[in-house]
Amino acid sequence: MLVAGVAVGICGTDREILHDGIGEPPDNQTRLVIGHESLGRVLSAPEGSGFTEGDLVVGIVRRPDGCGPCQRGEWDLCRTGNYVERGIRKAHGYGAAQWRIEPEYAVRVDPLLGELGVLMEPASVVAKAWEQIDRIRDRAESCREGMTALITGAGPIGLLAALLAQQRGYQVHVLDHRRGGLKQQLVEALGGTYHTGAPHELDLRPDVVVEATGVGDLVFDLLEATGPNAVVCLTGIMDTDRKLTVTPDHINRNLVMGNTVVFGTVNAARRHYEQANEALVAADRQWLESLITRRVPLPDWTLALDKQPNDVKVIVDLTAS
Ligand code: BGC
Repeated sequence: MLVAGVAVGICGTDREILHDGIGEPPDNQTRLVIGHESLGRVLSAPEGSGFTEGDLVVGIVRRPDGCGPCQRGEWDLCRTGNYVERGIRKAHGYGAAQWRIEPEYAVRVDPLLGELGVLMEPASVVAKAWEQIDRIRDRAESCREGMTALITGAGPIGLLAALLAQQRGYQVHVLDHRRGGLKQQLVEALGGTYHTGAPHELDLRPDVVVEATGVGDLVFDLLEATGPNAVVCLTGIMDTDRKLTVTPDHINRNLVMGNTVVFGTVNAARRHYEQANEALVAADRQWLESLITRRVPLPDWTLALDKQPNDVKVIVDLTAS
């Protein structure tokens, strides 16, 4: 299909590609078109593809390799690590005025969402995380008793994780480092409680933790601050060589005695994009709109990379010239 780019969202991965040298251009090329958080409008689609001109679509990021999970459509669980990711690894992304996509890797955006469809990709990562949390908590009925969720990090992933927690009926707590401001307002608008400080200082024994900062020290701190039968889901990464002294026996004791599950998660399969679409449609529109704090026209796209204090999600407007 040929798609007119509407917008791309910018995230930490894009900054890493540009500043820290992760990411890879397609084979035999020296440049990579970035943009993996996409939104576009179909210009032309082959007959029988299920899409027609004018449909709003998001492009799936990952392309499978030949391994079992990839072949089953679970490319987010790829076993070889040889997957391709549009805009990140070995394939051009969606940061272009026009792009092409195989219909089987395009996801329809509910027309009600309009521009908010640009949040679908980050929401798909969060939908996958929550699907896995739900499955782990289903290991025993008793695991479902506690309904306190702690999210660390109030960036787009953390706030979307808080939204999905609220939609599931959890009491939502979000920890970030800066008091006041838009992030606190967004948490409170969800009916959640906003905290600053270290997890072990909070008067909380969370049943679910979604870690969305990637700060390793915080991860270890969290492992000693969970409630019984807790699930700790790690979604963030950071690339430093920092050293940390930990008390491994305390951590081990807490994990064993607490029946704790700690797991990491990356990327999303097609069904998670669909779950994300539903979660976004069910959310308060104004709340979602407040997540998009800046729109940068395509010619000035590099401005989207500079982090400003109240930024949540910054998007590049691909229609602006
Ligand atoms: C993207 C994922 C991708 C991951 C690793 C994230 O920013 O949202 O789709 O799998 O980076 O490359």
